[in-house]
Amino acid sequence: MYFFQFTILYLVIIYFCYGQTTDTDGADAQSTKVSVGCFSSDSSVMLTNGEEKQIGYLQTGDEILTVDDSAVIPTEMVFMLDKQTSKQAKFYTFITDSGHKISLTGFHLIPIVSPKSKINYIAAREVQLGDQFYVLINGHMESSSVRNITIEIKQGYFAPLTLTGTILVNDILASCYASVKNHHWAQIFMTPFRWYYKLARLMSVNDPFNNNRIDGIHWIVKIIYRMVIHIRPMTLQIL
Ligand SMILES: *[C@@H]1O[C@H](CO)[C@@H](O)[C@H](O)[C@H]1NC(C)=O
Repeated sequence: MYFFQFTILYLVIIYFCYGQTTDTDGADAQSTKVSVGCFSSDSSVMLTNGEEKQIGYLQTGDEILTVDDSAVIPTEMVFMLDKQTSKQAKFYTFITDSGHKISLTGFHLIPIVSPKSKINYIAAREVQLGDQFYVLINGHMESSSVRNITIEIKQGYFAPLTLTGTILVNDILASCYASVKNHHWAQIFMTPFRWYYKLARLMSVNDPFNNNRIDGIHWIVKIIYRMVIHIRPMTLQIL
């Protein structure tokens, strides 16, 4: 157990970060310091059993759908990087031509399909009208243009991390990461957490990150953030 915790601490020194807060009271939507990377509480995900689940009720080990290379595949929820049921945040809400809708905080990453079908991850606040999201329509993935962008304050925000680092939210493909400049880099440096999670699951530990019932930014995220601020600030979007 301790071995894994130390491994994690060691690797996170050079690891991505999550753009949040000081330890005085977390996220305040109106403060300029805040860059919460989350989904709004009215977001839902699809479980592999076909059931729809509100994002705030996701638990470690839930099997949910995501996309790999245009195929819809199952992944697992590892833990909540951040979970706030009562705090407010500023969201960018996007509606696509296909009628899909998603609300993200400004620094949250979302894949945009380029004309050559390449996928680029950009921050929500950089998305422009006409950008193509990747959406699930009748069981397969298609790109659809963003036709409306609004900015609004909503209550409750959640940042689930999955094994693939991606997640289908309201049938739109999104990244699990925020505040980093590079999605793929964040995913690589999440590797020790995935190992720890898989090992814990093998040993039948149900809630290895101990965060199914607790609100707040996960302690792992806080440590990472503090380290990255000092050591690799250039990897962050926010500085
Ligand atoms: C987006 O939707 C809002 C609210 O429904 C509306 O007021 C606004 O004009 C729309 N913007 C565009 C670009 O269609």
